[in-house]
Amino acid sequence: TWTTHNVVEEQIATIREQVGDKRVICGLSGGVDSAVAAALVQKAVGSQLTCVFVDHGLLRKGEAEQVEKDFVAATGVQLKVVDAQERFLIALAGKTDPEEKRKIIGREFIRVFEQAASEVVADAGAHGEAVEFLVQGTLYPDVVESGGGTGTANIKSHHNVGGLPEDLQFRLVEPLRKLFKDEVRKVGEELGLPSEIVWRQPFPGPGLGIRIIGEVTRDRLDLLRDADAIAREELTAAGLDRDIWQCPVVLLADVRSVGVQGDGRTYGHPVVLRPVSSEDAMTADWSRLPYDVLAKISTRITNEVRDVNRVVLDVTSKPPGTIEWE
Ligand code: XMP
Repeated sequence: TWTTHNVVEEQIATIREQVGDKRVICGLSGGVDSAVAAALVQKAVGSQLTCVFVDHGLLRKGEAEQVEKDFVAATGVQLKVVDAQERFLIALAGKTDPEEKRKIIGREFIRVFEQAASEVVADAGAHGEAVEFLVQGTLYPDVVESGGGTGTANIKSHHNVGGLPEDLQFRLVEPLRKLFKDEVRKVGEELGLPSEIVWRQPFPGPGLGIRIIGEVTRDRLDLLRDADAIAREELTAAGLDRDIWQCPVVLLADVRSVGVQGDGRTYGHPVVLRPVSSEDAMTADWSRLPYDVLAKISTRITNEVRDVNRVVLDVTSKPPGTIEWE
């Protein structure tokens, strides 16, 4: 019979059998899938696992800390953190086209991760150990979509770490291959992961980089992080965070409008609330949030976030609108 406990036990046995005494590497994104996959592998083979977290500076408030502190405390994983915030800001400077921003973020992410992975491999090699496996948080729907194959992954090695083959090949460990998203969350709870991670709503890989309409800068990221944190806090306080699919908060960084605060005129930016209901993100409807919750979010954001003087609500379904604005 399907119980979360059985799934965990079965996966641990499978991982142990597959991995043996080799070393394993896993990239953490801050999302639930990679976190649960890593926690299962940690439970199975403990210190043979090294996790890598690339902090690109595009996560929401508190998310990097949840990975670096809370996840590590809950699981005991060895974590290599790469602070790449500056690098991403430099790469994104002056860029405003959505597809170009996505490409840059994806490209930089792969480069930074590959560099970190080759360092982990070199480190293990110096101790006479081999890193043969890479963990991926592939879910059952992804398996079906991709035709069911399982495989290997290539990681390019970099010239500044000596003594490595040109390409590193890893075999994949995919402990979530039989699970749906809700089952992954149950496994995460069974493993005692922080609820902020287990119940995290879908969040795009390019992160806040595609929720700032216009150029991505450090100041704009900080502003959006503050506004987004308030929206999430109030949705959670109202008990709505697990009902809605997700609620992007979008900063219209190149738009300004006139406002008044205290006895002074302001000329600030709007943020857009984009709460949506959905089953699979392919289609979505805008969520009919209670007015008092919207009012609270709006009042708090405009009071607490300097430079935001207007909060607007996106009432477009998908199609024709996508969930994200870029
Ligand atoms: P759209 O905006 O296309 O989004 O309606 C559908 C779902 O996908 C998420 N999304 C992404 N996820 N990388 C991701 O991992 C991306 O580049 C990306 N773009 C959109 C979005 O948050 C929504 O859940």
